[in-house]
Amino acid sequence: MAVVPYKNDVAGKKLQVARMFDTISGNYDFLNHFLSFGIDIHWRKKAVKMLVKDQPKLILDVATGTGDFALEALSLKPSKIIGVDISEGMLEVGRKKMKEKGVSEIVEMRTGDSENLPFQENMFDAIIVAFGVRNFEDLRKGLGEMLRVLKPGGRVVILEFSKPVSFWFKPLYSFYFRFITPTIGKLFSKDSHAYTYLPESVNAFPDGKDFTRILDELGYKNTSCKPLTFGISSLYSGTK
Ligand SMILES: C[S@@+](CC[C@H](N)C(=O)[O-])C[C@H]1O[C@@H](n2cnc3c(N)ncnc32)[C@H](O)[C@@H]1O
Repeated sequence: MAVVPYKNDVAGKKLQVARMFDTISGNYDFLNHFLSFGIDIHWRKKAVKMLVKDQPKLILDVATGTGDFALEALSLKPSKIIGVDISEGMLEVGRKKMKEKGVSEIVEMRTGDSENLPFQENMFDAIIVAFGVRNFEDLRKGLGEMLRVLKPGGRVVILEFSKPVSFWFKPLYSFYFRFITPTIGKLFSKDSHAYTYLPESVNAFPDGKDFTRILDELGYKNTSCKPLTFGISSLYSGTK
């Protein structure tokens, strides 16, 4: 059964996820950096570095949210980044950020569903996703759509939470993620379910080899996985 934010709700995962991110959009950036001690910024930088050699000109940021990954990808000097997301609330915060930073011409933020991407095939030089794929209702459909709109030879870079395996680190992390994160999340965000959904969805999500196997099965080539910070997150990559 799919892990959803609101267990007693009859709406599907996609609607629930969009509603949840709409609700927490105002505090999302603050809580993200606060709860991760700012490590998320370092992870996005690492992910973007994987694309330096490719010099992509047109980049798609799937599940762009408030646009932090798109902003980081500006260091690649692309001519355009299109960010898509199903949460209008997150996109609104993102659009405001792009305006303030004077980059709205380069970073365009559109409403769009990763499982039905509104683009023709073979369009993008690179595709990036940070902390998005775990929230897809249909993971394979979303990853398949990304492969469809990627140019042959183009690269996908995916950043997602994973489960640490280290003997001593695992219990510390488990305590923090299961008890501290939901408590602080509840305190600061308007949604008490969001930060309970976070550890539950990470726990149920395929990581490491299980995730690269899915990429392989869908037709991605040269897939790889690199655990970051004791495996709290992993950086995946594949080409078309
Ligand atoms: C944890 S946020 C990540 C935002 C941003 N990428 C970042 O690095 O901070 C996850 C985002 O995925 C979006 N999302 C979930 N399912 C989606 C889908 N099917 N299509 C597009 N966006 C989706 C949510 O609305 C949310 O904004």
